[in-house]
Amino acid sequence: MSDVSTVPVYKDSQMPVERRVADLVSRMTLKEKIGQMVQCTGAEFGDEKAYEDALREGMVGSRIGCDSQWAGNEGSRGISVEELNLHQRIAVEESRLGIPVINGRDIIHGHRTVMPVPLAQAASFDPEEVRRSARLAASEASAEGIHWTFAPMMDICRNPKWGRVIEGFGEDPYLAEEMAVAMVKGFQGDDMSAPDSIVACAKHFAGYGYCEGGRDYDASEITSGTFHNVVLRPFKAAVMRGGVGTVMTSFQSNGGIPSSASGFLLRRMLRETWGFRGFVVSDWGAVGEIEFHGACQDAKDAVRAAVNAGVNMEMIRSLYPRYIEALINERRISEETIDELVSGILRIKFMCGLFEHPYTEADPSRIRSAETLAASRRQAAHCMVLAKNNGILPFSDSLKGKRVALIGPMVHERGPLGGSWNLGSPGHEFRTIGEAFAEEAEKRGVSAAITDSALWDEQLRFANRCDVVVLCVGEHSNSTGETHASARYRLPVGQDELVDAVRRTGRPFVVVCVSGRPFPIPGARDHADALLYAWHCGTETANALMDVLFGEQEPSGRLPITVPEHEGQIPIYYGRKMPGKVNDWENRNANLYDDGWPYYNGEDFLPMYPFGFGLGYTTFDVSGICVDKTEIPAWDTVTVRSRLINTGSRRGTAVVQCYLTDVRASVSRPMKELVGFRKVTLDPGCESIVEFELNEEAMGFYDADGNRLLESGEFRVGVGLDSTVRPSVPFFVR
Ligand code: BGC
Repeated sequence: MSDVSTVPVYKDSQMPVERRVADLVSRMTLKEKIGQMVQCTGAEFGDEKAYEDALREGMVGSRIGCDSQWAGNEGSRGISVEELNLHQRIAVEESRLGIPVINGRDIIHGHRTVMPVPLAQAASFDPEEVRRSARLAASEASAEGIHWTFAPMMDICRNPKWGRVIEGFGEDPYLAEEMAVAMVKGFQGDDMSAPDSIVACAKHFAGYGYCEGGRDYDASEITSGTFHNVVLRPFKAAVMRGGVGTVMTSFQSNGGIPSSASGFLLRRMLRETWGFRGFVVSDWGAVGEIEFHGACQDAKDAVRAAVNAGVNMEMIRSLYPRYIEALINERRISEETIDELVSGILRIKFMCGLFEHPYTEADPSRIRSAETLAASRRQAAHCMVLAKNNGILPFSDSLKGKRVALIGPMVHERGPLGGSWNLGSPGHEFRTIGEAFAEEAEKRGVSAAITDSALWDEQLRFANRCDVVVLCVGEHSNSTGETHASARYRLPVGQDELVDAVRRTGRPFVVVCVSGRPFPIPGARDHADALLYAWHCGTETANALMDVLFGEQEPSGRLPITVPEHEGQIPIYYGRKMPGKVNDWENRNANLYDDGWPYYNGEDFLPMYPFGFGLGYTTFDVSGICVDKTEIPAWDTVTVRSRLINTGSRRGTAVVQCYLTDVRASVSRPMKELVGFRKVTLDPGCESIVEFELNEEAMGFYDADGNRLLESGEFRVGVGLDSTVRPSVPFFVR
């Protein structure tokens, strides 16, 4: 019997996705297939008319929402839902097969409501809040016609001089895994095809955070062991636990192989080992860059390398349309490979429901709603890290009637509070810290002294005449993000001197660091009454800062990267391998070592603040750490228990962290690794038993070939409030 249905299989939403994909691919010409493999700004076609013709001919798979050659990193042009719909209508109703375009944009930390930069979100140690924040960003972005975000970025970074450190989740693979999965789930929701979901993209695959010297785009030289045990972990989690729809290649080469040409990454790991079924997009122009890396013969050869490695889509239309057909004719790539790559793109287009709802009904109620703003404000407070406090914070009623000077370079800034990759909210939408402070102070009967003058002599004059000084130092968002790297890891020029000048006023003072990254500020550590890392926390930075200063919210963030004492210590991270010249475990901290950090010739290698560190407005104690079994077979789990007590006088939140050491293995393992954390809130005097279940995921590791091993022998576990915990409770895997 012949099929009487007039609806082609691929248009039938009742059909399984794989059947729809196969049916559609079987109907496509080679040109149409290549069209799907192209992402463009639109501008490549010259004018609007030419772009519309290209849509009609099925030459556009995706559009990237930006308007400059600096990728998406400029938000000068807002989004026109009307225009997106108009173009979509041409693709859907006037092209031969009616395949919708997938609109991508960098929704990195919020959209019209800007959320804290991702490094700050990692500091919250709160995956659920990170998920919710991404969910709200997805809701805003999808209300404006965005289907796909180029986030989360999950590049582990142990060199904060790299400007892009602020886009990721810091130095630790376990924390990055948890954050990456949470963000993917937030963007994609339970159902990727829901109208308020957007497709996520795990980037940059892989090793970009290890660019040498923190110089953006520089090559990395990552060993195989580090690749498997550190760099790849969040990507694997994003694929296998998060179900991320897309992956973006990284710009740099590792061991001489540009990521966009890496069959190891894109075929062996991503598809064959982790079973990824979505699609890979190159980073901006990164296919062409294979040639600039000198890792192929010419531009055409770069396309051969990228296609064969498995790059489904070229970000920025340039080389795929020019060379794919010729390469097929020359048998340097096969049409089967093209079919496979196009199938990946179509699979995601079907899965995210684009064929069923290609158009966007603008929904202003989802933009900057009360709910989203409140979430942004709450999350900001939960990201802030209190590094020092002698009791001056939170400001109490005793400040009533006193004069508080608010000074420093960040007091009147707006746009920089949004951080790098804020494409959704123009600078004028941000409230300054000065405005928020003036209002809050008035409400509380405090006299705020804020000068408009940018001159430090004038600001110091204000400081001199006040009872308390709040000094807001920090960096511009333009100092972070892509194309930014610094040779120094310090506050911008002159600001350390300002801290020192405030010290000399003799007034009590609080230093607030408003930046993408937590800088070492020795003057604040040594002399300030409090030091708060407030980050670039987005739209609600200023309001959230007031919540924290005046005690409406407790700053419950913990450092997601180690803060060095000085930049000469970089790269610096807690999860180092055992060094040489250490005789045994017990003596590890003796002689040459202080808290696991070496000191030579009087030079101190102790960081200023360790990973995982942060204070709150109360104090906690962790005790009674024990394991339920001291010997287990490899398939079993160990439960670690500890008692957490709020020993202070306020309700507060602790981030309880569990670290594990694999004492002896066939290779040297990190001195300790974070294997679990819990954020626990307790009333004063109250206690709670905090449990961590450790399984193979925590105890195993990868060998240099990527094989998973769990070796028998001794492990030690520790629980505490930051990474200075010394794992000392033993158990054995037999
Ligand atoms: C960045 C990516 C970004 C892309 C699109 C590139 O330059 O490396 O992270 O998603 O541009 O804007």
